[in-house]
Amino acid sequence: MPLSEVTSVAGFGEGANTHSAHRVQFYNHDGYLISSVVEHLSSTLLRGGVGLAFVTEPHREQICERLHLSGVPSEVVEAHCILVDAAYGLSCFMRGTAPDRRLFNSTLGDFLAPHSTAAAQGVAAFGEMVALLWAEGKYDAAIQLEQLWTDFTDQHAVQLLCAYPLSYFSRADDGKRFAQVCAHHSSVIPAESFISGIVEEDQAREVAELQQRAAALAKEVEARKHAEARLRANQVELESIVQQRTAALRKLSLQLLKLQDIERRRVARELHESVGQDFAGLKMNLDLARHFPHNTELWDKCDQLLEHCIHEVRTLSNLLHPPIIEDAGLPSAAEWYVQDFAKRSGIRVSFHGLDALSVLSDQSRLVVFRALQESLINIYRHARATHAEVSSSSEENSITLTVADNGVGMDLKKVEQFNSSGASTGVGLTSIRERVRELGGHCHITSSPQGTSLTISLPK
Ligand SMILES: Nc1ncnc2c1ncn2[C@@H]1O[C@H](COP(=O)(O)OP(=O)(O)OP(=O)(O)O)[C@@H](O)[C@H]1O
Ligand SMILES: [Mg+2]
Repeated sequence: MPLSEVTSVAGFGEGANTHSAHRVQFYNHDGYLISSVVEHLSSTLLRGGVGLAFVTEPHREQICERLHLSGVPSEVVEAHCILVDAAYGLSCFMRGTAPDRRLFNSTLGDFLAPHSTAAAQGVAAFGEMVALLWAEGKYDAAIQLEQLWTDFTDQHAVQLLCAYPLSYFSRADDGKRFAQVCAHHSSVIPAESFISGIVEEDQAREVAELQQRAAALAKEVEARKHAEARLRANQVELESIVQQRTAALRKLSLQLLKLQDIERRRVARELHESVGQDFAGLKMNLDLARHFPHNTELWDKCDQLLEHCIHEVRTLSNLLHPPIIEDAGLPSAAEWYVQDFAKRSGIRVSFHGLDALSVLSDQSRLVVFRALQESLINIYRHARATHAEVSSSSEENSITLTVADNGVGMDLKKVEQFNSSGASTGVGLTSIRERVRELGGHCHITSSPQGTSLTISLPK
């Protein structure tokens, strides 16, 4: 029904209307809102006028109940109180993202037309449609709808009450929008946190504005508290990670120190047992040769001892840092080491595919060489093997080295722990695993009473 028909049937004349009002109520709790709405509607209904309320579903029942309690007979409510679902009301005149003026006016007309006689005694309207739009973030549409209501109340004797929860304006940058909403109303009613005593409209607006700022501040304080709590939790987590890493680092450096110590003892032993003994023998022979300078057998022995010393010193220095890796490449260095090991240990060692090792980076080469040394020495010390086999192959993205023996096998618990975490083995295997993993590779041991096999794999 067009607006002209509404005004004619409603009988609440056109033009500037001194009986009109467009008030806005802010609230914190539903209970307070319901009391205000019931007070607003009941006085008009009891005077024989019409109540028109666009309400959200949770408020509808409470309003009916409270109207009854406030003395409005149920037949009056039934006859003259029009309760419309706010979402449905919006669907009648929203087109796209904006309210349509013509549809808005005709919608109000459609609801009021059947009550034209009572409407002459006054119309009290209440609307939550703007709050619904606001909750969906459709601020512009809400302000446009406020304007349509203002125009409507300008032309018709309607006492209109709008309502918004104060929490809708609790962000720091909501101040401007809050002021905009207030500006569209003839009077502003602050939320219940400020009780009465206000007589002047200016004072009420000021109080409402302060309430909005307080709500925004409270929210900001809450957000900061949350952020601080999150920060504290992160800090605790970070500290615990640092502690764990520090402990792991300390353990590793202890292991390395131990390893260095073991290495030094080995070198000292080698020097003492091999070169030291040779030099002692050489000294004795030289003393004898001083007395028997023409004894050629003595000089030959001195020669042999010196040769042996030179050989031992070269071997030792090669073991400590194999320059042969840089000079001749890893395949040749590995071959030299394997052959030398076989000679010194008496264990037969076969090897194949070592050329595949030539593509490895400098860092990886040294790690592979150390792994080869450690696994062969382990075979010598622990496996009681007669035969070992060293092999290497090139896969799509990696190079693998396998050192296997036909010895007594390894304790299966140790094998399992080594494969899963690297724990519970000696420094030798642990440090191989650590070094290989540092380079992005991995190690694996398989073992049975027929022998043990260690495979390391490094990226190309
Ligand atoms: N080839 C093998 N055959 C049988 N047992 C082995 C073999 N290799 C290693 N093991 C077992 O695994 C254990 C751990 O070896 P790992 O090299 O880590 O330490 P280690 O040789 O005892 O001491 P180190 O720290 O001086 O190397 C050995 O003590 C031994 O019991
Ligand atoms: Mg070892």
